[in-house]
Amino acid sequence: MASELEDIQGVGPSKAEKLREAGYTSVEAIAVASPSEIAAAVPDIGEGAAAKIIKAARELADIGGFETGDVVFERRQKVGKLTTGSSALDAILGGGVETQAITEFHGEFGSGKTQLAHQLAVNAQLPKELGGLEGSVVIIDTENTFRPERITQMVEGLKERYAESYSELELDPRQYLRHIHVARAYNSNHQILLVDSAMRLAESLKESEMPVRLLVVDSLTAHFRAEYVGRGTLADRQQKLNRHLHDLLRFADLHDAVIVVTNQMMSRPEVFYGDPNKPVGGHVLAHTATFRIYLRKSKDNHRIARLIDSPSLPEGEATFRVGTHGISD
Ligand code: GTP
Ligand code: MG
Repeated sequence: MASELEDIQGVGPSKAEKLREAGYTSVEAIAVASPSEIAAAVPDIGEGAAAKIIKAARELADIGGFETGDVVFERRQKVGKLTTGSSALDAILGGGVETQAITEFHGEFGSGKTQLAHQLAVNAQLPKELGGLEGSVVIIDTENTFRPERITQMVEGLKERYAESYSELELDPRQYLRHIHVARAYNSNHQILLVDSAMRLAESLKESEMPVRLLVVDSLTAHFRAEYVGRGTLADRQQKLNRHLHDLLRFADLHDAVIVVTNQMMSRPEVFYGDPNKPVGGHVLAHTATFRIYLRKSKDNHRIARLIDSPSLPEGEATFRVGTHGISD
């Protein structure tokens, strides 16, 4: 039985109402918020009071506490898979991109990271029998590369693909665009705060027909990289990135959502043999992302994806295509 806001110690009917109006519709949404954020959103609640409310909400929601193995088991049973549009790429991922996990795509410019993000934003809305998650999408766009026209083209692509086999499928590009919530992130702090906003949005859509099932951060590391230059600041950067990634993981768990992040490469001039490029983000990202995929360009519009460091899947390579109508084999 889910708790109501009024069950939080220190929250009466009038505070509950104001919190709901500000978008905090569940105990969980409050439990993961920060005091300054609540104080800013709800004029009558100061930071001190907000901190107390958050603490009480955390206890009530059991956020950050232990859970028993059977509860974890129950949740893992629900893990969903989202198709990429390429069956070869799905195959190396064990059937698609998993919910309740962070999947990172890294590769040089033009390797197809943003294209894949667009395709997943379309596919997430498909019925489950077609590899979708029947859900809405949140995109945190740090490089201003979200293009609605691409979504439209990709929906047209699905029309072609499913015209015969699945004629009852409604493929109206406008509808697809309506279920994609995009926010530009102007710097790394803003990017981190947008996960809180995404959490509130997801809470408000939780009982709707299209709950949020995919959150994309494209690119995860660009702002961090630009803002933290030089060795001395690296520890700060990694600490912040770590917190950001754990916010994302919490989102994945709470909403049984797919988290997709993109990442750049940096060159290592000291490497003489093998690939001199490696993804940004260091150990923090390496340990937190459950699946990491390295994308590289091949001839024509082909791309090669390689799964690296997966806990449960064998390393493998897949070739896919980026075309006008999106990602395909
Ligand atoms: P960075 O963000 O710069 O690191 O690169 P990225 O990995 O995000 O690259 P992105 O996904 O933007 O890939 C760009 C490539 O996708 C282009 O070089 C094209 O090959 C392909 N592409 C992008 N838009 C279209 C399109 O409208 N039609 C077709 N056919 N291909 C496209
Ligand atoms: Mg990109």
